[in-house]
Amino acid sequence: MLRLLFIILPFALASCASFVNTHRMKAAQRKMLDARKLQQAGQWDEALAMVPRMQSSVSKSVASAPVQKSAAGTAVDLRPLLAAWENGPLAGLKSALEKKDAQRSTTAFTALRQQCVNCHTVLGRTEVRVDEIPD
Ligand code: HEC
Repeated sequence: MLRLLFIILPFALASCASFVNTHRMKAAQRKMLDARKLQQAGQWDEALAMVPRMQSSVSKSVASAPVQKSAAGTAVDLRPLLAAWENGPLAGLKSALEKKDAQRSTTAFTALRQQCVNCHTVLGRTEVRVDEIPD
């Protein structure tokens, strides 16, 4: 199965826009986990600085392909979903980090991650795995 993936992958990558988005989403995931690690290490300012970098990865990805097919097959505009992610859990995370509140940060990271998943669910992209927030 894995070998098949490696055979198919170059063809999938031929679609360049999609490749760039994939790359950006992976970067967003990395930055989310980095921010969590920094927060757990008590490096609050560094964790806070990671938040706009994560946001930028997600928003650039959405901006380059803002309208996609939903799970139901109809076109869905991702920009309101992005705005909901930014104004909801992303803002919540920022404020928890600003207050250096460990408990609220844990809750905020989990809520943020859940809304990452929600957007993929709207698109029917259930195969997308977003890493769990480490305890
Ligand atoms: C507003 C919608 C939206 C939000 C919010 C969102 N994503 Fe995505 N995500 C997408 C779309 C669209 C794709 C598919 C990109 C493509 O293949 O063109 C995707 C793909 C992915 C992938 C799969 C990349 C691959 O290997 O193919 C990962 C991992 C991912 N997102 C992580 C995240 C994380 C982490 C967050 C939150 C920090 C997040 N996403 C927030 C829309 C979103």
